[in-house]
Amino acid sequence: MRVDFNVPLDENKNITDDKRIVESLPSIRKVLEEGGRLILMSHLGRPKGKVNAEYSLAPVASRLAELIDCPVTMAKDCIGTEVMQQVLALQDGEVMLLENLRFHPEEEANDPDFSRELASLGEVYVNDAFGTAHRAHASTEGITHYVETAVAGFLIERELMYLGKALQEPERPFVAILGGSKISGKIDVLENLFKKVDTVLIGGAMVFTFFKAQGYEVGKSLVEESKIELALEILKQAKEKGIKLLLPVDVILAPEISATAPFNPALISEIPENMIGVDIGPLTAETYSNEILSARTVLWNGPMGVFEIDNFASGTMAVAKALATATTKGATTIVGGGDSASAIAKAGLAKEITHISTGGGASLEFLEGKELPGIAALND
Ligand code: 3PG
Repeated sequence: MRVDFNVPLDENKNITDDKRIVESLPSIRKVLEEGGRLILMSHLGRPKGKVNAEYSLAPVASRLAELIDCPVTMAKDCIGTEVMQQVLALQDGEVMLLENLRFHPEEEANDPDFSRELASLGEVYVNDAFGTAHRAHASTEGITHYVETAVAGFLIERELMYLGKALQEPERPFVAILGGSKISGKIDVLENLFKKVDTVLIGGAMVFTFFKAQGYEVGKSLVEESKIELALEILKQAKEKGIKLLLPVDVILAPEISATAPFNPALISEIPENMIGVDIGPLTAETYSNEILSARTVLWNGPMGVFEIDNFASGTMAVAKALATATTKGATTIVGGGDSASAIAKAGLAKEITHISTGGGASLEFLEGKELPGIAALND
């Protein structure tokens, strides 16, 4: 079973967010409860094809053992004679975790011999690594050519249900909130969502490229000069398609991006030349919250500001709270992984959201309408 146990670790090798492990448990438990011999495989970080103890999956094996309340054998490698011996010694209902796949350059190169070796360890292949499904690697794509049965696990099923079906046939009104620093990183998502949404709320530093395009002074805020034309084109497209696209009416300004910098709200027509926009302002936060509360389906991808700094987090936190309240009122709320998932966790509202994706890059590519090779390669 390919899982995405690429979890954040602190300097003492403590897992700081185990969501990806927890979300994999339904598939893991299913195999173990039915007496299967389970071999788990994952990458962790980017060790660049070399063995590096920094990136060992051993801390994950310990956390998994706690969560499933049974021992997890940690393999020294992911292929080779010793690993094969450990696999052959597994008993029904037992589980082992292979060492980081990316200690071998062949993993990311999608090498056929490496894929075949991984495949030889088991009889059935399950992919439950949604977070890595956008990578055509040996353990996600290559391996499927050497097994008869290659199926999706419950985590992938759930991701496809929410990011796929719920957004394909959304209950309306369907509101999407898009944030982040650059239009270039979100343009494909925006174009794909334009086919489906009723309303788009824009936040994050990308708003300053829109403002510049509209002729406003944006001070020292981040602007993608090469995307100014594109920003105008997006506004035009939204109008033609009858989509309500909202930009902030006010922002939070600071002289620099630091935890101690003074900060103030300002209307977007009043941004001085020496200031930086770091969050949406209170008027905008209120308007966006009301839009979210009137929706039946909400998708959120990308923070509204530099939420890692508490003074610049109010806009992002207001959106997080509005999503939680909308959920209690019966809306389907979906968070597209990555930074927005961290923001929801920071707000302590993770349990109040219908679905938070375990994918960062993978959820983004999925929302762009791209085929994910790790999923396309499965036969069920
Ligand atoms: C992720 O965290 O997005 C996935 O685990 C994929 O990791 P990668 O970007 O290093 O391929």
